[in-house]
Amino acid sequence: MIYNKLGLTNIDVSIICLGTMTYGEQNSESDAHQQLDYAVANGVNFIDTAELYAIPPKAETYGLTERYIGNWLKKSGKRNQLVLATKVAGPADGWLPHIRNEKNRRLDRPNIETALNNSLKRLQTDYVDLYQLHWPDRKTNFFGQLGYSHVHDDESVAIEETLSILNDQVQQGKIRYIGLSNDTPWGVMRFIELAEKLNMPRVVTVQNPYSLLNRTFEIGLAEIAIREQVGLLAYSPLGFGVLSGKYLHGAKPDGARLTLFPDYNRYSNQNAIAATEAYVQLAHDQGLDPAQMALAYVNSREFLTSNIIGATTMEQLKSNIESATIELSADVMKHIEAIHTRYPNPSP
Ligand SMILES: NC(=O)c1ccc[n+]([C@@H]2O[C@H](COP(=O)([O-])OP(=O)(O)OC[C@H]3O[C@@H](n4cnc5c(N)ncnc54)[C@H](OP(=O)(O)O)[C@@H]3O)[C@@H](O)[C@H]2O)c1
Repeated sequence: MIYNKLGLTNIDVSIICLGTMTYGEQNSESDAHQQLDYAVANGVNFIDTAELYAIPPKAETYGLTERYIGNWLKKSGKRNQLVLATKVAGPADGWLPHIRNEKNRRLDRPNIETALNNSLKRLQTDYVDLYQLHWPDRKTNFFGQLGYSHVHDDESVAIEETLSILNDQVQQGKIRYIGLSNDTPWGVMRFIELAEKLNMPRVVTVQNPYSLLNRTFEIGLAEIAIREQVGLLAYSPLGFGVLSGKYLHGAKPDGARLTLFPDYNRYSNQNAIAATEAYVQLAHDQGLDPAQMALAYVNSREFLTSNIIGATTMEQLKSNIESATIELSADVMKHIEAIHTRYPNPSP
């Protein structure tokens, strides 16, 4: 396993981070524990979760993912050997009534403090290593939104205030480090600038989508990640599993995410399908497994801190962790860049 520094800290995190959002929906508690056992035994020391999970978010499964992880942490006794990341959900226009009071959905003090305390309880721990804002409090582009129409959002919680709330939690020992997610170049730079000015915690990572179908991180954020040492935690590195090629030619594999939840169509538009066909063909031509090739590409990025994989079977998990050992040849890289030029970011 390869390890990278978590931002400017001294913490080493495995280049493969275990994503968990299927626990409580597609995966049972015993599946989850088996995955955690295997991943940790194979060098993974970094686990990503969120108060929001399981996915898709709904009242019946809310908090189950953190609960399963908490039970495993208690059972395994491995809490202190691991870097545990979770997130507080941002404002949602009516789609998270089971998490936030509809009258106050903002990332303000009561909401952040309540969310953190509930996560700690479910996770059965006194602290999280990395506490992330799942998406910005302010209105901006994320979750694949294109174009840009500025919304003057007067109710948005000021970044100074967010930092001060998080700083208090750091002082109390409940959070070690903070991170952003689904944020923009402006957001990341502003968080850094204000932290320096106000002597507040500095963000260590940004968790955004990144895969062969979505390399938009490279446009503005990659430079920031390297220059400011706020590395990428890449999520959906297989584009919800699409890059494995298993949905090509209209296939609907039993029990797979997009068969179960066809509304998750971010990676299934025409250009994404055409690009996937080309990447899968390339992998086959080169004797590579398409999913491992896609993950190995993400692993090879200089701006990456860790690649957050997801798996619903042990076979997938093993294969995905193994991607850390695969180095893509210059020839494969050249072909990948050619496909990217033909189909740039089909699923932003
Ligand atoms: N911050 C955010 O907003 C955000 C958003 C999304 C995810 N995340 C984090 O990132 C993690 C990973 O995201 P993701 O699950 O979307 O990642 P992904 O790698 O794009 O998709 C993972 C899914 O693809 C399928 N799969 C995985 N390996 C495979 C293989 N080798 N062959 C064939 N199919 C395979 C599995 O689903 P099926 O078996 O159902 O096909 C698996 O659950 C999440 O658990 C979460 O921690 C964060």
